[in-house]
Amino acid sequence: MRLVELRLRDFRNYAAQDLELGAGITILSGANAQGKSNLLESIYTVAVGRSPRAASDDELIRFGQDRAYVRAEVDGVRPSVLEIAVDRRSGEKRIKVNGVQAQRGQLLGRLVVVLAGPMDDEVIRGAPVHRRRLMDAALSQVSPSYYFRLVRYLRVVRQRNRLLKTDAAGTVLAPWDEQLVELGSAIMERRREFVAALAERARARHTRIAGGDERLDLVYVPTVADEASPTAPDDRRALVRALESHRREERHRRVSLVGPHRDDLRFAVNGADLRTFGSRGQQHTAALSLRLGEIELVRDELGEWPVVLLDDVLADLDPSRQALVLREVAGPQVLMTHTVLPQAPGISVRHLAVRAGAVSEEPHVRH
Ligand SMILES: Nc1ncnc2c1ncn2[C@@H]1O[C@H](COP(=O)(O)OP(=O)(O)OP(=O)(O)O)[C@@H](O)[C@H]1O
Ligand SMILES: [Mg+2]
Repeated sequence: MRLVELRLRDFRNYAAQDLELGAGITILSGANAQGKSNLLESIYTVAVGRSPRAASDDELIRFGQDRAYVRAEVDGVRPSVLEIAVDRRSGEKRIKVNGVQAQRGQLLGRLVVVLAGPMDDEVIRGAPVHRRRLMDAALSQVSPSYYFRLVRYLRVVRQRNRLLKTDAAGTVLAPWDEQLVELGSAIMERRREFVAALAERARARHTRIAGGDERLDLVYVPTVADEASPTAPDDRRALVRALESHRREERHRRVSLVGPHRDDLRFAVNGADLRTFGSRGQQHTAALSLRLGEIELVRDELGEWPVVLLDDVLADLDPSRQALVLREVAGPQVLMTHTVLPQAPGISVRHLAVRAGAVSEEPHVRH
């Protein structure tokens, strides 16, 4: 799929920006703090229904204004017009798909994006929530049923936590336990399958970027293990058992301790944990390989390429590695930010300059 037209109104530091976007690689260049990342953020926001980095929607509204608005016209198997508006006074977020008011779940999958950027450091080094978000963002975009199941599951966990806080007895919890097992095991199955497929693709990318003597491993780490069958785990059985064995502790700590809301992922290079032992460069390369693998995986699952958003991924790389990344990144539409125009022999790119919340066309570059 392709984003053909983007319209911003009072989004971050953009007052009014209309932009036509083409196929191939588009480089957004400019000095620091001009609006390069903001532009990619706007695309992610209109595609996914929430910002990848803002803690609150308010942050998206241009200083001194009341309403931020983004509109995206998408071409592909399902051509669509997507709109999102955030209102400061009412605190409301409104989403429209093809002119009709919609929920977040109806937006997902119409403009599928893979975003790589500085926040990915958190995926490797930060709290588990960042790694769960990686799985959920990709899976929700490729499969709406995953998203709806996840929403229901998280509601069950919240309700269960509420009951645990009020000293509820077993009979009150039972129906919630059942749902936790039902929804939770389905989520775990899907995540496990996703991580295995992602690991394979990310490993291949990592080998090409890092030069061959590094092996990247990525493993799904759920809170429960099916000890009876570790190679082909029965998540349902494992969850039922874990709920039983944690009953006392859950009541004591008053919170749900088992289930995919506490899942994690583990990364290793040549067998050594990347979070603890990886160098900055290794962590950076692994994060990038992971996103490049995700692009491929989304394409395989969807039968269509996602729109690729690369924020600052070239920053710590020398020129030859930069050219390598430009060659590695596949897909019919790639938008990439960098402070300057990267050198990439043999690759044709469109060059847009970003300055103080305005985008201007620079001459086309063919190295
Ligand atoms: N709600 C907002 N209203 C107005 N300006 C904002 C808002 N939010 C952020 N900005 C401004 O946007 C600028 C940062 O933009 P952005 O993160 O896109 O920079 P960048 O071009 O990616 O820079 P870098 O190269 O440092 O990553 C900052 O100057 C910030 O003050
Ligand atoms: Mg930036």
